[in-house]
Amino acid sequence: MLQGDSWRRSFKGVVEVNAPRAGRDGDGALLPREMYAALEEYTYLNQASLGLVPRPAIEAMTRFLEDVGQYGNVRLSDDDEARVLDGVRQAAATLFDAPPGSIAVLAGASEGLGQLAAALASGLRSDAPEVVLVTTDFPSVTYPWLAATGRSHVTPPVLRWVVDEPGSDLTDGLIAAVNERTGVVCVSAVQYSTGTRIDVAAVARAAHMVGARVVVDVTQLAGAAPVSMRDWGVDALVCSGYKWLSAHGGVALAALDAELAELVPPVVGWMGAEDPFDFTATDLRLASGARRYELSTMSYASAVGLQRSIDLLSSAGIPALADHSRLLAHELVDLVAPSGWYPFRRAGDPAASHHIVSLRHPRASGPDVQTALARDHLVFTSSRVGGIRVSLHGYNTSDDLHALARALTRVT
Ligand SMILES: Cc1ncc(COP(=O)(O)O)c(C=O)c1O
Repeated sequence: MLQGDSWRRSFKGVVEVNAPRAGRDGDGALLPREMYAALEEYTYLNQASLGLVPRPAIEAMTRFLEDVGQYGNVRLSDDDEARVLDGVRQAAATLFDAPPGSIAVLAGASEGLGQLAAALASGLRSDAPEVVLVTTDFPSVTYPWLAATGRSHVTPPVLRWVVDEPGSDLTDGLIAAVNERTGVVCVSAVQYSTGTRIDVAAVARAAHMVGARVVVDVTQLAGAAPVSMRDWGVDALVCSGYKWLSAHGGVALAALDAELAELVPPVVGWMGAEDPFDFTATDLRLASGARRYELSTMSYASAVGLQRSIDLLSSAGIPALADHSRLLAHELVDLVAPSGWYPFRRAGDPAASHHIVSLRHPRASGPDVQTALARDHLVFTSSRVGGIRVSLHGYNTSDDLHALARALTRVT
């Protein structure tokens, strides 16, 4: 446990930790580096893949697991269980600038994206069958729609693909693809492979002008930069927990507008009932609000960790985290230029996110370089769609960028 931590039991089974407050360290980090064991030995520039989980979140999860795994209902009554996700729902509502009743806690972003695609595919109007997607988006965003084209729907979806290219603005491409025949736009706010960022509010305005719905995956944005369901005016947000939100796998969030939150979800589980512990199997009374999309006894431990991580990120300040990565991104691009590496989008491009920088090289192979960086230099990045993807989170510092730049000159 971190020195100075104090434990407070909020109710049986759930523990809150008062960890050191986040803030800029002497080393330039915004999130204290001692919260992450890997950073003692490795240069970790890979939050967009398996995000590091801060120690206070691990400790909250471990305590929860000990309580509930070892003691079961002795320490988590049915009433406690019915309320166990309330805290993370509230934290998510604040994080997404969305009403508390709009939040559902799910087991994965893929679950939320699949439920929403199934719900929307069955309600497409015959004069608006088109679904706008990005060709290199994360497959969980596109696969449910590809699957929907093979099912029998009154109006089968017609997919309309937009390409994410460095020479053009993806927001403009999405808006150009929207027309009277558009029923849905489903897209990631930040593209996982290129780091391209879209202007979600502008896309939502264009889509709503023609009566289309907008589903946005914020997995590669939330926790790194601000998200506002209210300002963006989208119909649904979906976000996995184990990337920038710094949780463990098995938990994700959705925020749904009032109309989607009142639909009967395509898949319904016992936890979507107004009172799950009522157990009347012959009478389906769904929860009011997005909670009806919650299915089952999910990984509560991951949800407890997610709540703690959101607290930590919020105390560092989400705008401050975005600013931190912006400064690092500019420095990174300058440092790697001499060895021939350049970003997919230039650092000042409004369509470039700062926390994900996809570096390209005219000759080097992304997978080979990524392997050599990890194996020979203990520098962890990802290789995605032809480049190496560098993640810049609040615990990263200028030293990490120098370590990467040095290593790149040797492996290129
Ligand atoms: C944009 C995006 N959405 C969804 C996912 C997957 O989320 P989950 O594993 O929770 O389904 C990823 C994983 O990389 C992602 O980058």
